[in-house]
Amino acid sequence: MQRALLAFLVCPYDREASLDLAASSPPTDDGEISEGTLVCSACARCYPILDTIVCVLPDDLRDVAREIATFTSQSAGETYREHVRRWKGDDFAALTEFESNEARQKVSEMRKRDEEAPDYHSFVEDFRARIEPERVASRSRVQPGDVVLDLGAGIGRMVTTYQGRCRLAIASDFSFESLQVLRRLHSAAGQVPHLLQADASHLPLRDEAFDVVLCISMIQHVPTERARQMAIHEMARVLRPFGRIVLLTHNYNLSRRLGLHNTGAAGKEGCQSDGKIYYLTFTVQELGRLMSERFRLDEMCGIVSYWPFVRRIPFPVRRGLDRMLERRPISRFTGESLLAVGHKR
Ligand SMILES: C[S@@+](CC[C@H](N)C(=O)[O-])C[C@H]1O[C@@H](n2cnc3c(N)ncnc32)[C@H](O)[C@@H]1O
Ligand SMILES: [Zn+2]
Repeated sequence: MQRALLAFLVCPYDREASLDLAASSPPTDDGEISEGTLVCSACARCYPILDTIVCVLPDDLRDVAREIATFTSQSAGETYREHVRRWKGDDFAALTEFESNEARQKVSEMRKRDEEAPDYHSFVEDFRARIEPERVASRSRVQPGDVVLDLGAGIGRMVTTYQGRCRLAIASDFSFESLQVLRRLHSAAGQVPHLLQADASHLPLRDEAFDVVLCISMIQHVPTERARQMAIHEMARVLRPFGRIVLLTHNYNLSRRLGLHNTGAAGKEGCQSDGKIYYLTFTVQELGRLMSERFRLDEMCGIVSYWPFVRRIPFPVRRGLDRMLERRPISRFTGESLLAVGHKR
């Protein structure tokens, strides 16, 4: 953690209260504090700095994560389901770990993302991987004076669209391992934003501190309507008035409606990655409804359009077609991803 990050941090339970550095390892030559503790000046909650990453998760996620970690180290062959049945009863255990509540679903994803972080690149189809960052960059139009938040940054697929082009950037995710991988991948180029482990529905960030928020391929994994609304409210809260949001998410497009999509998020809603990660795919109307409470939408289009045999088309041709299509309403039916651009009301 660099000291400059402190000016942006607040306790997620006391939005006015600063987080003060209580104890820390001495900063390295380039100003990084690798271990330490931050304390809320109002409620006295403590948040750790681990391996330079500031970890400001809300209590319920920390509790569930701790419970699972304790169980895992003492399990003696018992499955987690058996453990839950023994301690909390049959009704609770009848639910999968996934269905039981919002915090459990989030922790399930955190653990799976941690596990998958080193191989994340291999899960993103090549065309998407090449097209999405360039289409996001063309919309976010980051300026040298901007402060940027990359929410659900993962291993940093979008980092090159803002890092080095803005005044300051924070990459935030609830998967600690993903942030570690992000740092490994980008440190050689000197392109590491400030790193923050946080939950998108409880951001430990100051009001109106950001000019641009990127939320790329994240909102579809937030497991309940309430948590998605809270995340949208949080994005609006931390943006300055008229600040810009660029949000990309799964589109409930024709190929999904017709059952032609057979990997990852294939249907309207479900679980992917061995059932550990929730996903929802959005119609244009659903995404519009979710965002328009807090944002005025300037654009919504489909990108990464899909139709039969599309994978046989050479990359430059497919890319050209995709760019042409995104300006037409039909892209909202063909695009695998919906790209929404707006500004804070
Ligand atoms: C599909 S990945 C996308 C990562 C990156 N934005 C990209 O485009 O490659 C979704 C990311 O969102 C993160 N995520 C999901 N729900 C989150 C939440 N409630 N708070 C913070 N991060 C979350 C996951 O850990 C994961 O890294
Ligand atoms: Zn507090």
